Amino acid sequence: MSAYQEEYLLAKEDPKKFWAKQAEHINWFTEPSIILQQDNNGIERWFPDGVLNTCWLALDYHCEQGRGDNVALIYDSPVTASQCQYTYSQLREQVSKIAGMLAKQGVEKGDRVIIYMPMIPEAAMAMLACARLGAIHSVVFGGFAPHELAVRIDDAHPKAIMTASCGIEFTTVIPYKPLVDKAIEISHWKPNKVFVFQRPQHRAELSQSYDLDWQEEVAKAQPHSCVPVLATDPLYILYTSGTTGKPKGVVRDNGGHAVALKYSMGAIYNVPQNGVYWAVSDVGWVLGHSYIVYAPLIHGCTSILYEGKPVKTPDAGSFWRVCAEHKVNVLFAAPTAFRAIKKEDSDGAHIGKYDLSKLQTIFMAGERLDPPTLSWAQEKTRKPIIDNWWQTETGWPIVANPMGIEPMPVKAGSSTKPVPGYHLEILNEQGEVLGPNQQGFIAIKRPLPPSCLPTIWQNHQRFESGYLDIFPGYYVCGDGGYFDSDGYLFIMGRIDDVINVAGHRLSTGEMEEVVAGHPAIAECAVVGVSDELKGQLPLGLVVLKDGVKVNNTQLEEEIVDIVREKIGAVACFKQALIVERLPKTRSGKILRKTIRQIADGEDYAVPSTIDDPSSLSEIEKVLER
Ligand code: COA
Ligand code: AMP
Repeated sequence: MSAYQEEYLLAKEDPKKFWAKQAEHINWFTEPSIILQQDNNGIERWFPDGVLNTCWLALDYHCEQGRGDNVALIYDSPVTASQCQYTYSQLREQVSKIAGMLAKQGVEKGDRVIIYMPMIPEAAMAMLACARLGAIHSVVFGGFAPHELAVRIDDAHPKAIMTASCGIEFTTVIPYKPLVDKAIEISHWKPNKVFVFQRPQHRAELSQSYDLDWQEEVAKAQPHSCVPVLATDPLYILYTSGTTGKPKGVVRDNGGHAVALKYSMGAIYNVPQNGVYWAVSDVGWVLGHSYIVYAPLIHGCTSILYEGKPVKTPDAGSFWRVCAEHKVNVLFAAPTAFRAIKKEDSDGAHIGKYDLSKLQTIFMAGERLDPPTLSWAQEKTRKPIIDNWWQTETGWPIVANPMGIEPMPVKAGSSTKPVPGYHLEILNEQGEVLGPNQQGFIAIKRPLPPSCLPTIWQNHQRFESGYLDIFPGYYVCGDGGYFDSDGYLFIMGRIDDVINVAGHRLSTGEMEEVVAGHPAIAECAVVGVSDELKGQLPLGLVVLKDGVKVNNTQLEEEIVDIVREKIGAVACFKQALIVERLPKTRSGKILRKTIRQIADGEDYAVPSTIDDPSSLSEIEKVLER
């Protein structure tokens, strides 16, 4: 039996024994005596009587073990032309003072804190400081508009918000404080305090009663020690797009998360304790939570926090420059980033300029790794390129090529095989298990492994109805796909109204709600269409209210503006076309899949349930224009 098969079967046949063993690799305050137990909602919970602190695992434990002088974090910021680094003991010192600053303002275990920050070390410190106190952080991506921030404030009820005076996108300085003020103005829940980290590129005016200057407060703060929490206590809430306008607050616990991430660093990413690990993402996404902050630090690596882009900061050689300069062993980024590099440097001329001898493996995730990008990266870098498939809800890979157990041959279009701990099945609409090469819903058989969400914040019903009730005994991921006859999984895309733009998960349902708010619009549909660089881009089709006369270009501009204002620039909503009517079934359901197929120039079958087939020819004509 292969090493992978052996480990996979161990985890499948006796999950408690398997995960009890993995739990030995983290430093508990009180080791768990119970490995797996159902909670009052009937949800499986890992290590329920274990006591720990995630910040302790990420910082203090290494200092205690004599690794305090090792570099924990390197900040590399081409957009500010600066760099700095923190050893484990320096990072612990900073984080414990930030925790002290929060505690002084009344933040305690279980309180929520929203973090709305650019990619600066203080963003990671803020997360770790919350973890240190047992407070629950909720990081909101800086590309989201005030309305989105307000929705999260109203759901999470934070006691405090931590922000910075500005972010920097390429060469544009974006003041953050006015966005936070606007969000607080429109939210119903009001935080007590807003901590503002002042950056030299733009200083924020601190004129609100809730404002506090971060640097001044830290200077006065007393260091705070790690507060013990239960394994099942929440570490963070991370909002992610669902099919409605209201994002889902994915809850992550402390114990299962630490155990699963620690396991993944060896089994999947195959990085040694002192290795240099670089995940190129943003702390606003799950990749940033798991693989910029928590996993590399829990594992004792040096993590790189990069404030820049794959291209134009200053050129398409940035990734290779950072890898060479900081001796990166593992690089992890979204395929979009490599498509952007490929577009500007298709021959890979920049790659040859740098010493990449320390770089072992390049991992990609967050969206489909398209075969042309895979083969370009393989050919130009001559490094193993490893796809891995997962989602905010799980916090770590579901399917991957387990480089630390047994590297397997790569098949283009497949993320390889289920990670030990996950038992996957492909199900048809009736919930029956399908065989090889049959496409259906990808479902994880319960119990879900450690780190997977136990609930949706403030809305357990949504967790049950959205993921668990569809096929009893299974968790439904929201992606469709199939296994080939070698057991490789091929992801074929979302089965719901979620799209993926430049590795960012967005809801077309939410965009529809915003577009429909325009006074001239009777109804609309937003679908994700293929894009060479960003994977997908949203396209809006709108039907005007009877009698409304508009200038088409002006209307499109207005619609683009409201999506930007309500959701944010990150939605990349740039196109809205007027149609007479939307194609629908006789029961009134908009045929979004067919619209997408037409927009992508794919062959499509006219659905037998269509109400008015001529509505499709109109869409074809409008899209041709
Ligand atoms: N704060 C404020 N605005 C932000 C932002 C942030 N943190 N991140 C993105 N935006 C804005 C951008 O400035 C841009 O605004 P614009 O329409 O005014 O130009 C808009 O959101 C769209 O951003 P993006 O989709 O990132 O496009 P881009 O053209 O700026 O950059 C790439 C293109 C390919 C370089 C960029 O998408 C990239 O680096 N992708 C990698 C993907 C990635 O890491 N995803 C995380 C996966 S987990
Ligand atoms: P997020 O929760 O933002 O990480 O987005 C998760 C979704 O992104 C998944 O449900 C998939 O639809 C998509 N996704 C992530 N990684 C991959 C991958 N390696 N291959 C295909 N799709 C992916």
